[in-house]
Formats: sequence, C-alpha cells, structure tokens
Amino acid sequence: MKIKQAEFLTSNTDYKKCPTPDKPEFAFIGRSNVGKSSLINALTNRNKLAKISSKPGKTQTINHFLINQSWYLVDLPGYGWSQVSKAQKEAWGVMITSYFENRQNLVCTFILIDSRLPPQEADTEFMEWMVYNGIPFVLVFTKVDKLSKNKVASTIAKYRKILLRDWEEFPLYFTTSSVSKDGIDELVAYIEELI
Ligand code: GTP
Ligand code: MG
Repeated sequence: MKIKQAEFLTSNTDYKKCPTPDKPEFAFIGRSNVGKSSLINALTNRNKLAKISSKPGKTQTINHFLINQSWYLVDLPGYGWSQVSKAQKEAWGVMITSYFENRQNLVCTFILIDSRLPPQEADTEFMEWMVYNGIPFVLVFTKVDKLSKNKVASTIAKYRKILLRDWEEFPLYFTTSSVSKDGIDELVAYIEELI
C-alpha cells in the first residue's frame, strides 16, 4: 500500500468527540518521548504531520489523521512521564483509558518501546492492562538507528523473559527507526493486512 494522502483531522481530550468511528483505526501509544509522533510522520512520509519535540509531553491530546480517505491513524499522549502534576496524570489516564475502552473501530494498537532502555514498568503495566481489557496490540521497538542489532535483540529478549512469566506467547513485534526508516515498510504492510 502507498500512503498517498494524510491529513490532520481533530485533536480531542474526550473520545466521544473523536471522528465518527466508521473507518478502521490504528493507535500509537507508549511512554513520552518514545517516538510515536515521529513514527506517524515516517509512516506517512511527511515531516510535520504530527508534532514532535525532544522534550517529553509534547502530544497531550487524541489526534486523528485520515489516511488515503479510508482509515485513521491516532497519535496519543505518552504515559510514564514524571514531570507533570498528579491531577494532569489522572486526567491523561482517564482520557487514554476511556479512549481504549470505548473506541469501537480500533483495529490494532502499536505499543512503542524505546529499544535503548531496559524494560520499564510503565510499559509492562500498560501491556497487562491492554490484555486484561482484551484490546489487541503489537509491540514496536523504536529508535533502532541508535544501537546495534545485538543490543536491540537483547532488549527484546529481556521483555520476552518478563512477559512470558505470565503469558503463553510473546506479542508480535516490529523494530523501527524514524531516522533510518528501518521497519517502516513492514509496519505499513501489516496495517494493510488488517484494513
Ligand atoms: P510525546 O508526544 O511527548 O509523548 O513523545 P513522542 O512519543 O511522540 O515522541 P516524538 O516523536 O516527539 O520524539 C521524541 C524525540 O525522539 C524527538 O527528539 C525525536 O526526534 C526523537 N526520535 C523519535 N524517533 C526517533 C528515531 O527513530 N531515531 C532517533 N534517533 N530519534 C528519534
Ligand atoms: Mg508525540
């Protein structure tokens, strides 16, 4: 599939105000700064579609993009960012959980994980929450341009070890870089299979 059209539609804090759920939807979530907005730009081959920042906490709302007039990509705020107030954290928690619990057209969620870091509790807890709520997801190990293939494999192995304590299978996963564009075509092909 070629992504020919990509347009920003809306930015919401309430899932009820999101675009009519009449098209397949794919969401991007993960810790702040993991590269969600950058990945959306890489997938759509546009530099400024989703807003990026080197400081965590850039994306603060539910952002819908319409792709090829036929499906949605959604850029979400990050979790696990310590530099915000308790009230702000709670508000984001409600926004994100109610989005996932209620968005009927959500086909698959990409949970992004920073390949450079050891397993983070915020990530494993979020995955457990998704499994508990029966919401389908795959993993995306990001920023692989920043480290060797061996190091990426080692991060994945660490997650595998932790998750297989409780789960029978390790989730499907991709490895990507929004800089070198590694894994981007594979991610687009995967979305195409599901549309
Ligand atoms: P929030 O909106 O704050 O939750 O962050 P985000 O997950 O959307 O991250 P964003 O895309 O804004 O990127 C955060 C920082 O990481 C920026 O400085 C990006 O340039 C950088 N970055 C993102 N993806 C990559 C990547 O694949 N490789 C490298 N080297 N840097 C990346
Ligand atoms: Mg962002």
